[in-house]
Amino acid sequence: MCKKLIATHPYFVVIILHEYIRNLFPHDPHIKFKIKNPIKRINLLQNQLIHICQDLANLGHYNIKFENLKEVELKTKTGGVYAKLWKIFSEKENLKAKNYIKERFKNFSNINVNSFFKVKKIIDVGCGGGRYSFALKQLGGQKVYGVDFSDDGIKLAKKNYKLKNLIFRKQDVLNLNFKSNSFDFVYCNGVAHHTTNYKKVIKEIVRICKPGCYVWLYLYGRGGIYWSARREMNKLMKKIPQEYSQKVLDMIGMPSNRYIFMDNWYVPRETHCSLKEVLTTLKKLRVTNIQRMKVGRKTDLEYGLKNYKNGNKIWGEGEMRLLIKK
Ligand SMILES: C[S@@+](CC[C@H](N)C(=O)[O-])C[C@H]1O[C@@H](n2cnc3c(N)ncnc32)[C@H](O)[C@@H]1O
Repeated sequence: MCKKLIATHPYFVVIILHEYIRNLFPHDPHIKFKIKNPIKRINLLQNQLIHICQDLANLGHYNIKFENLKEVELKTKTGGVYAKLWKIFSEKENLKAKNYIKERFKNFSNINVNSFFKVKKIIDVGCGGGRYSFALKQLGGQKVYGVDFSDDGIKLAKKNYKLKNLIFRKQDVLNLNFKSNSFDFVYCNGVAHHTTNYKKVIKEIVRICKPGCYVWLYLYGRGGIYWSARREMNKLMKKIPQEYSQKVLDMIGMPSNRYIFMDNWYVPRETHCSLKEVLTTLKKLRVTNIQRMKVGRKTDLEYGLKNYKNGNKIWGEGEMRLLIKK
């Protein structure tokens, strides 16, 4: 229905799909869900949105032509999509990155978050605007590298985070220009599933990690309503320019730092990985000491899977946040 509505009422499509996607998370920090049971909530919402779409299709409209959409949007590179979002990210939001790492690492009983990051050499693979590279430096890393292939991301990171021994470099994560066994901790958060070959990224991050040291790998999972909705939205929303959607969301008062919604809509590639395949890839690299984060932050899908019965109907395999010992 949104596919049809996009040609006549793109502004409503932005609002409708924003409402849909935010309800697909186990928790929304900005608006309290009225219905606690997520399966019930999402089913009800789907019905309501279908009715709204039906009614809206009868309303009049102006012809909106998105000029040069093909060139402007479809050729947009992953980094460019994020750079647009990072620029509007508030400084306060970026500074939360340190706490996010701490909250997630507390899940692993064998890790002491106060000392774990106080090591010589850390790398943040696919650092984007550099928020986690900075956080890893704050958490005690002596020398922290942040690498990304996006000019915009690296430029922003260099501008925002100027610290001694915090080094940003432009590199392709599929072919890292670092020696094998050279890092005490490798952090790769939400990157591999946006490349053309997530298994190659896994190979690379394990290669550069020192034996006995750890790799943090965050990947999207698959299955359930959540991931199939994302797949469809990723195809559909590219028909509306990112700047246009951003403006609509600004107008309805969405805090501009909630880029989790927008990245799904505009990123050129979003692979939904299978846990089984990820584990097989790691096994082939002779890595078997793998811990999966179980609970996480309230917005993490792991939290939903842990706290709601039949959560897998919505979130499938959830997200994968893995702590891997080489
Ligand atoms: C979702 S963002 C994650 C950024 C950061 N890790 C974070 O959690 O804030 C994905 C990042 O992966 C980068 N990326 C995607 N494919 C890449 C590649 N082949 N080489 C280097 N960076 C890549 C993008 O430029 C983007 O900055």
